[in-house]
Amino acid sequence: MMLHIPDVLRPEQAEAMLAALLRAEWVDGRVTAGYQSARAKDNQQLPEGHPLARELGAEVLAALDRHPLFLGAALPLRVFPPLFNRYEGGGSFGVHVDNAVRHIGGTADRIRTDLSATLFLTPPEHYEGGELLIEDTYGTQAVKLPAGHMVLYPATSLHQVRPVTRGSRICSFFWIQSMVRDDGQRSVLFDLDVAIQRLSAEAPDHPSAVQLTGVYHNLIRMWAEM
Ligand code: NI
Repeated sequence: MMLHIPDVLRPEQAEAMLAALLRAEWVDGRVTAGYQSARAKDNQQLPEGHPLARELGAEVLAALDRHPLFLGAALPLRVFPPLFNRYEGGGSFGVHVDNAVRHIGGTADRIRTDLSATLFLTPPEHYEGGELLIEDTYGTQAVKLPAGHMVLYPATSLHQVRPVTRGSRICSFFWIQSMVRDDGQRSVLFDLDVAIQRLSAEAPDHPSAVQLTGVYHNLIRMWAEM
């Protein structure tokens, strides 16, 4: 399931992050790529563990923690500390697939990458190109979102970033290990969650709301790993 998550950051929050990132020193993005993806990658990145990446990453994580749509769709168990990248001057990232397991720098911890996330920080009118192309079951989707909005997609998807031919595109990107590993099961839970919320809002006293909430939690009990 691919999902657009709006308003992860408030506009002024995204703007402040972008201003700080524009002043930062960037390095070649190939430092975090695996062997196969390094050949396709042409961008810059803030080094993992860079103080600014840590500070802004913590801000992104705090925002996600308050975002019901993200929590319901991802059912996160662990989130990789957010990284930041920049594309400009024709830079792109060819078709690739993200590594299944990632070490969290400076720790012995690893996460299984069930979901990939890209949080857009540069307003789309400030650059040309730079669409994130994601291959899903409905074909290829082109994603380019307002600043502060995020796309969440299965980390199993093939994806690429089209060349940025004008301006620069700065995003945060990271991975999520979900309590529910299977994308199909996670989609069922999300649909049920959305339906229960609608029912609770429109018919708050309907007895089925409680019963369906029980079904939701019982499915989580069956499927969650932690
Ligand atoms: Ni990728």
